[in-house]
Amino acid sequence: MSGKRIVVLISGSGSNLQAIIDRVNAGAIAGEIAAVISNRASAYGLTRAADAGIETRVLDHKAFADRLAFDQALMETIDSYAADLVVLAGFMRILTPEFVRHYNGRLFNIHPSLLPKFKGLHTHQRALDEGEREHGCTVHFVTEELDGGPAIIQAATAIVAGDNADALQQRVHQLEHRIYPLAVEWFCAGRLQLEAQGVTLDGDLLPGSGYRLQE
Ligand code: GRF
Repeated sequence: MSGKRIVVLISGSGSNLQAIIDRVNAGAIAGEIAAVISNRASAYGLTRAADAGIETRVLDHKAFADRLAFDQALMETIDSYAADLVVLAGFMRILTPEFVRHYNGRLFNIHPSLLPKFKGLHTHQRALDEGEREHGCTVHFVTEELDGGPAIIQAATAIVAGDNADALQQRVHQLEHRIYPLAVEWFCAGRLQLEAQGVTLDGDLLPGSGYRLQE
């Protein structure tokens, strides 16, 4: 198959991985998932990948002396697949500046909030606690700032009376499964660039919060 070579990094369930697999298989993405790499052998996403006939690798961070040693092994593994795009899909590791710089402009993450709001963990509960009117998710290029790189696309859901963190998380997850494959699709079609002034789609500079998926 021609097209871009994608490597996906996971630590857990891999439902975002599944959404990307489904869009690759549907022919929407001009690329293939060359490998799925997990830092946890028990990650269910490895089963999803194997079921889809995708090569899997486990790299246990606990087997390495420090963060940089792990990241260097991870880079070697990723580069052995000649990745054009590296997709973090629930990869629960903080990455070193060395890693982030190595994949500058070709490293994606998805975060369950409308960045720059609610970086870090427990975003759904925090959105409720802050009395937000809406909540959502963001796909962004990764830079050295944690959960802080330039946004590519966002999708939002209204917070309604009686909402709780579980319900909100489920709705946001559904949105994640729409925007993550779309961002990958754009990248693989050569439509998306990280430039000095921000992210461009088809040559047009996107707003700081990225493209906004309309309901
Ligand atoms: C998602 O909520 C994503 O936003 C966050 O990690 C979670 C991964 O879920 N970064 P899954 O493994 O894709 O189901």
